[in-house]
Amino acid sequence: MSNFCIVILAAGEGKRMKTSLPKVLHELCGKPMVAHVVEAAKKVSAKKLVVVVGRRWPQVKDVLGKGVLVAVQREPRGTADAIKAAKDKIPSSAKDVIVLYGDTPLITEATIRALYQSHIEKNASCTVLTTFLENPKGYGRILRNESGKLIGIIEDKDATTHQKAIKEINTGMYCFRRLGLAEALEHVRPLNQSNEFYLTDVFAWMSQRGKKIDACVADDSREVLGVNSQMQLHEAQEILRQRQLESRIENGVQIEDMRSTFIDQTATIDAGTQILPFSYIEKNVVIGRNCSVGPFCHLREGTVLKDGVSVGNFAEVKNSVLGQGSVMHHLGYVGDAVVGKNVNIGAGTVVANYDGKKKNKTVIKDRAFIGSDAVLIAPVVIGKGAVVGAGSVVTKNHHVPDRGIVVGVPARELKPSKKRG
Ligand code: UD1
Ligand code: CA
Repeated sequence: MSNFCIVILAAGEGKRMKTSLPKVLHELCGKPMVAHVVEAAKKVSAKKLVVVVGRRWPQVKDVLGKGVLVAVQREPRGTADAIKAAKDKIPSSAKDVIVLYGDTPLITEATIRALYQSHIEKNASCTVLTTFLENPKGYGRILRNESGKLIGIIEDKDATTHQKAIKEINTGMYCFRRLGLAEALEHVRPLNQSNEFYLTDVFAWMSQRGKKIDACVADDSREVLGVNSQMQLHEAQEILRQRQLESRIENGVQIEDMRSTFIDQTATIDAGTQILPFSYIEKNVVIGRNCSVGPFCHLREGTVLKDGVSVGNFAEVKNSVLGQGSVMHHLGYVGDAVVGKNVNIGAGTVVANYDGKKKNKTVIKDRAFIGSDAVLIAPVVIGKGAVVGAGSVVTKNHHVPDRGIVVGVPARELKPSKKRG
């Protein structure tokens, strides 16, 4: 069993986001910021994982998932005060406490482990994860003495011009000996521009008492980006999107243009599938092997493309299954439908699934051929090997039999040809 506990601070208000939503609930790639931090922290298998949420934002609890203890900070009086709120949830058997902030969503399991490892190896009282930034504005700066020892952290707001020039910043991730942290927290006072209890003030206090404070420098400064504004949220989302696309490419998905491809993290795509530019793939979409998607394709929640499906130019699919080998190459909408194998959906076909009150189902069976510009007014069933003529409107509750042929507006059945079948 591990000998450390993780505390994630997520009780801040986030005024700088300029929205009414608590900051940590703003989403990146379809998932709230704090949930990304929780996901990385869970992988580290701490003794306990505690998330501090604000009393005024109880909805933050709902996105944390299982295996998380919740502590409540009554008022957002600063990061030191937030940790104090978690005190009762931290088991006394934990030797160390890792602190993470809920607004650094790009952090990975590997970096949390590296921080902990460094802390243990150096036998430090506390270890701060730092990094160097070309533009350190907004971050706390790391103060070192002439011999390079970390002696404190100064917040951007409180820094002198000279201190503002320091490029080594505090990422807001730390590992502390539990007892040393508890003692130091008692000495934090809100003597700063924000009138808040800063966690960062514990370092000067510890340093003055000869405690061993170590800095572990993060290799990749993009991973520790803190999100305080909408622009930083956008920046973080871009980094995460790139990271996720890179991992899909590693796993055999061919992505022609990463800049114009948007794939939700929860979508699964098998190897051998090609995603062409300007494709937008939403939550929980499932795509099999050797499919072709795009260019300009929108796959919405609930869509399943079986192996070998091709969905192309300006096609939108929602909550529908497209069976193996089916194609929908150009312009069209398929919603709430179950489409069989080797079906051809012609250019401009629209499944009219909504009747103004509710969504209705469409079934298109194996090998059916839907001609260009057809409208299927759900609920309808198109039988196996059936043909819907170009420009036809198949009206509500119509059940086209297997191998049937329908044409016209409204669509009527033609006598089946003897050659067909
Ligand atoms: C903080 C650090 C700064 C560091 C930066 C890294 C402090 C005082 N400063 O600044 O040195 O460079 O992060 O990103 O810690 N929170 C609470 N309760 C509160 C206040 C904040 O839970 O009362 C939470 C927030 O939800 C957030 C995190 O703590 O997840 C950090 O708070 P924030 O106000 O964003 O701190 P920064 O100004 O970014
Ligand atoms: Ca922050």
